[in-house]
Amino acid sequence: MVRIGLLTGGGDCPGLNAAIRAVVRAADRYGHRVIGIREGWQGLFTRDVRPLTAKDTTGILAQGGTILGGSRDNPLKYRRGLQICLKNFRQLKLNAVISIGGEGTLKLADVFSKAGMPVVCVPKTIDNDTWGTDVTIGFDTAVQVATDAIDRLHTTAESHDRVMIVEVMGRHAGWIAAMAGIAGGADAILVPEEPFDLSELLKIIRVRAKRGRHFTIAVVSEDARIRLTNGRILKTPLRHDEYGDVKLGGIGETLARELRSRKVPDVRVTVLGHLQRGGTPTAADRVLATRLGAFAVELVHEKKFGMMASLKDNKIQAVSMADTAGKLKTIDPALLRIARIFFG
Ligand code: F6P
Repeated sequence: MVRIGLLTGGGDCPGLNAAIRAVVRAADRYGHRVIGIREGWQGLFTRDVRPLTAKDTTGILAQGGTILGGSRDNPLKYRRGLQICLKNFRQLKLNAVISIGGEGTLKLADVFSKAGMPVVCVPKTIDNDTWGTDVTIGFDTAVQVATDAIDRLHTTAESHDRVMIVEVMGRHAGWIAAMAGIAGGADAILVPEEPFDLSELLKIIRVRAKRGRHFTIAVVSEDARIRLTNGRILKTPLRHDEYGDVKLGGIGETLARELRSRKVPDVRVTVLGHLQRGGTPTAADRVLATRLGAFAVELVHEKKFGMMASLKDNKIQAVSMADTAGKLKTIDPALLRIARIFFG
């Protein structure tokens, strides 16, 4: 019997509970025990743990959020944080940890793994920016939420001849903007990976108006870059949250200001924010979370530690954590090329 510590780190996303359920049920099949660690890696530092049984996971498959709580706090920033976590791991009689998280959680997991803790990771984040997997848990739901919003904004934009700016999340990668922009038929998509010329957006608005389309939908990723005619790049000013993480948001209003100052009359901004992270996961996210969660238990059972469960080329497989931690998966330029065909 293996005692598996299970945690969800970083911000939440839809599909986390489906992954927790999968880990607990799969562990049950092997006769292993799961100990839930609350608030991500921080819970190992504070010993905030509780046993998780199949009964605890009844009815959570379709629930958003995480029953284990999530935190961006980092035990390594506290004095002797690493040693205390390693000591707690031993004293709690854990044999392995399954860490479900995004980029920050993966980096932490890699540190613990290199310090000798048997760890397996599962990638989740609405941003889809985790290296080593084609898709992360939560991304599909966020894209669906953003697409629904763009569909709704279309009808009101058209009724009032407005330029609608839709600001979406995604941190330093434009996956949500690109996918929801394509799915929602956006007239322009602004992402962090490639600066977007303001003059091009103004041209799109003008040309559309000439064609009798007096409204425009622009999807803007929260870390998008806008190039002015003098070459200056506009982006969200660098701010940090209480845990030292980069805090983004506000680029939509910045863009609206620039457009208004260039005589575009009716501009409105919608910031989707945490709506993209809340609520029930899509079927695709539930299935992905279930497959990755169950596979992570197989990896533990086979003592394949230091690995991340991932989906690559439509197959669930294991990739080395050391090869993925600290790397950012930005959007495929081919996706942007296709998106551009439909601009204007
Ligand atoms: O990483 C997920 C994410 O939702 C990003 O898209 C966003 O920049 C950030 O988290 C927001 O973080 P918080 O929930 O701490 O405001």
